[in-house]
Amino acid sequence: METKLLEPNRENIETAAEIIRRGGLVAFPTETVYGLGADAFNATAVSAVYAAKGRPSDNPLIVHIADSAELARLTPVVTDVMKRLADRFWPGPLTMVVKRLPNVPDVTTGGLETVAVRLPDNEATRALIAVSGCPLVGPSANLSGKPSPTKAQHVVDDLYGKIDAVLMGDDCRVGIESTVLDVSTGTDTLTILRPGIITPEQIEAAVGLPVRFDPALTKIKAVVHTESSHTQQQIKKNSDVTEMAGHTGSAHTQERAIKSDEGIGLAGHTEDVHTQRASADILRKKERANVAEAAGSAVRTLLEDGWDADFKPKAPGMKYKHYAPDADMLIVEGEPDDVRREIAKRKAEQEAAGKKVGVIFFDNNFELAAHELFDKLREMDKAGVDLILAGGLPESDSRGFAVMNRMLKSAGYNIVKTRK
Ligand code: TXA
Ligand code: MG
Repeated sequence: METKLLEPNRENIETAAEIIRRGGLVAFPTETVYGLGADAFNATAVSAVYAAKGRPSDNPLIVHIADSAELARLTPVVTDVMKRLADRFWPGPLTMVVKRLPNVPDVTTGGLETVAVRLPDNEATRALIAVSGCPLVGPSANLSGKPSPTKAQHVVDDLYGKIDAVLMGDDCRVGIESTVLDVSTGTDTLTILRPGIITPEQIEAAVGLPVRFDPALTKIKAVVHTESSHTQQQIKKNSDVTEMAGHTGSAHTQERAIKSDEGIGLAGHTEDVHTQRASADILRKKERANVAEAAGSAVRTLLEDGWDADFKPKAPGMKYKHYAPDADMLIVEGEPDDVRREIAKRKAEQEAAGKKVGVIFFDNNFELAAHELFDKLREMDKAGVDLILAGGLPESDSRGFAVMNRMLKSAGYNIVKTRK
């Protein structure tokens, strides 16, 4: 299939809308990331979206509307809370999960009784929706597993030949996907299913109700971090080799702990070996792929079987492997100055060993980090980098937490912490 690359002018928007109306696929710009559009009410078209992306079919799509009034076409009751959220945040990077009307096809909602809805802050895309005359599904317009596209060129790189057209708009302002908020439960607490640039604090201020993160989001982190610091203590006790407490493949440790009941101490021992080798040399590509695979499968084990029910995320998409660059990736956490120093040291070591190293460091600038993360990951793959060293952001800040949610997945939960 030849993919039309369309400047988002009036005439081309008509052309794109015509493609949508006859069941085709058109990628569109938004303020967060590019989306892959199809008529949300056309089950065949929506199935083609999953196929083009290579996306698992139990992962529901966000439905994009051009005007708040269209919520009523998708959900039985537009509550007061929904109205207040729409007034305050739409158009903008907030997605509301609401009860669905039966006319929304199963394939759009992944069979759930809820539907995710958002009103994007992009004029051309709202015009596309309006002219098409139907709401559009819009998963991020990347191949499943790749970083989300924040530039039109990213969409072309991933989906050229697989979709009918791309509206070639500007680079995305925000750069990470929308905050997904569950307002479907009828309780007084709202739950963030996917963190984004709109924070729980902002939502609380707008609606006057408490907002929490889906426990699955924070629990995975808690496990990774607890094990990470435990491993560091082990290393400190057992070894003078590593100058800095390091940690690789924490989820691997989790899997061992879960599967064999060996306990964390023993698993930590395994990690020492990795860490020492990692500090002297990068684990070879194949080994690292295994570690990443083990990390991914351990997280999946946690999510699917669960240590407790809280581990199961309510947004099905949060459980899949995401944003993975081709290169190995390591996150360095700590105070910015320590992180900068540690990254410089590791970079020099690896370059001396003949490796091509890319660095991602945002100096705790959260907006910049959100804006650039996915683009940097793609750039580094294009440049054929062997190892990406990335500075972590403090997760005490809700925007830092949102960026780290993506960064940690990109790195397969591969973290080291600088030590005072
Ligand atoms: O910023 C964004 O939201 C972008 C742009 C294009 O709008 N779209 C996007 O879509 O990120 P996607 O499909 O890549 O991510 C949708 C997320 C997934 O994690 C999915 O599981 C979750 O939203 N989701 C969708 N419908 C849901 C529902 N009914 N209940 C819970 N989670 C849902
Ligand atoms: Mg996505």
